[in-house]
Amino acid sequence: MSKEAKLELDGKSYSLPTLEGSEGEKAVDISSLRADSGYITLDESYGNTGSCISKITFIDGEKGILRYRGIPIEEMAEKSTFVEAAYLIIYGSLPNRAQLRRFSDLFTEHQFLHEDMKYHFESFATTAHPMAILSAMINAASCFDDGLMHWHWGQANSQFENYAAKLMSQVRTIAAYSYRKSRGLPLIYPKKAYKYTANFLHMMYSTPYEDYEIKLEVVRALDLIFLLHADHEQNCSTSTVRMVASSQANLFASCSAGVCALWGPLHGGANQAVLEMLEEIHRTGDDGSKFIAAAKDKNSGKKLMGFGHRVYKNYDPRAKIIKRSCDEVLAKLRINDPLLDIAKNLEEAALKDSYFVERKLYPNVDFYSGIIMRAIGIPVEMFPVIFAIGRMPGWIANYKEIMEDSKSRISRPRQIYTGPGLNHYVPMEERK
Ligand code: ACO
Repeated sequence: MSKEAKLELDGKSYSLPTLEGSEGEKAVDISSLRADSGYITLDESYGNTGSCISKITFIDGEKGILRYRGIPIEEMAEKSTFVEAAYLIIYGSLPNRAQLRRFSDLFTEHQFLHEDMKYHFESFATTAHPMAILSAMINAASCFDDGLMHWHWGQANSQFENYAAKLMSQVRTIAAYSYRKSRGLPLIYPKKAYKYTANFLHMMYSTPYEDYEIKLEVVRALDLIFLLHADHEQNCSTSTVRMVASSQANLFASCSAGVCALWGPLHGGANQAVLEMLEEIHRTGDDGSKFIAAAKDKNSGKKLMGFGHRVYKNYDPRAKIIKRSCDEVLAKLRINDPLLDIAKNLEEAALKDSYFVERKLYPNVDFYSGIIMRAIGIPVEMFPVIFAIGRMPGWIANYKEIMEDSKSRISRPRQIYTGPGLNHYVPMEERK
């Protein structure tokens, strides 16, 4: 029999059921508390609130563990690819050869955008941030698919496979187009011969006259970045996707909302912010110590970007993998980047500094990923877009999980109201 929690309130005792996840994570189920007692629970910014029960990704922030469907991120990074990881995350198990082939073929089938979408790209200002274009165009892409617009889970779930592949494939095309649009360059169409990540690089960097030279180490490094970002349980953007999906919005609309949530510098925009921070340190000739001092001062408005995490209170396991990859890629491409040295010095200094030690602030995945992206020629404003391409399987899997749950209800949190009490409308002429 499962344990019960006892809560004493206003002289009454309430029994609350508890539950335990497959890795021993414990929760008190408070869903009936308001109806029984009139109390809600308050946990602003959800530091200690489980918003769902999920089978997709497991994180132990204290121990620095991340697993996709049970498989450690270290194994995935060493042995798998982004596309295979996407299949695992969305469908729950590693694909066999035929399943992987079919999944990849669906990407090829859906990689072209509707030709009329080109007009949408044309209407963006050249200064538009690619995340704004990405979010808008994912939504726009759904409007060009009548089936998707009118499809609801339960009607023909077999269609999900098509829509999921279409979204993953087209997000890559849209991302590359948004970059080319921002540079005023002609759009480059995807090629059938290329695999997922190589195709993205081709659409980013080929010209109408000459194909971009696909370097294996560059493909591998970018594929690894995608893979490491593929899912991360209930973070800000994934919770947003689930929130939107809970209203039964379509898959594209739900994931487009995820892009907006990801954009902020405290989340997916952090990789861009890290590079800007490193550039600032380099430009000002600081050895990092002035920046660290500012990051510790709450009035400076600065933070050590790429450090800290709501869940990890230990080294982010993705950051360890990325740091290694960063060294390898730069060595293979024979790039000597002073920003890498600054990053390493900053990390070393911060990990010895009592401010960061006491608060358990370690480098997160964004601390080194920007340096790799810079080395392979991805402009800084595209960094969060790369994160969004990588996170797409996680959002799709979370969308699917909501749709498959017959007990799923619309997400609707409560609040504690602290505004004025009953007030009355005052006509304009009587207002002060
Ligand atoms: N630099 C300096 N101080 C920090 C940092 C940082 N990067 N991160 C947290 N702190 C401090 C806070 O000011 C707070 O100090 P206090 O206890 O004296 O008030 C303490 O550490 C605890 O931090 P919280 O703000 O409670 O941490 P929270 O869980 O709310 O935020 C977050 C996590 C947003 C990631 C935060 O650490 C941060 O802003 N980091 C920099 C941005 C970043 O790298 N984001 C990427 C996150 S990973 C991802 O989305 C892929």
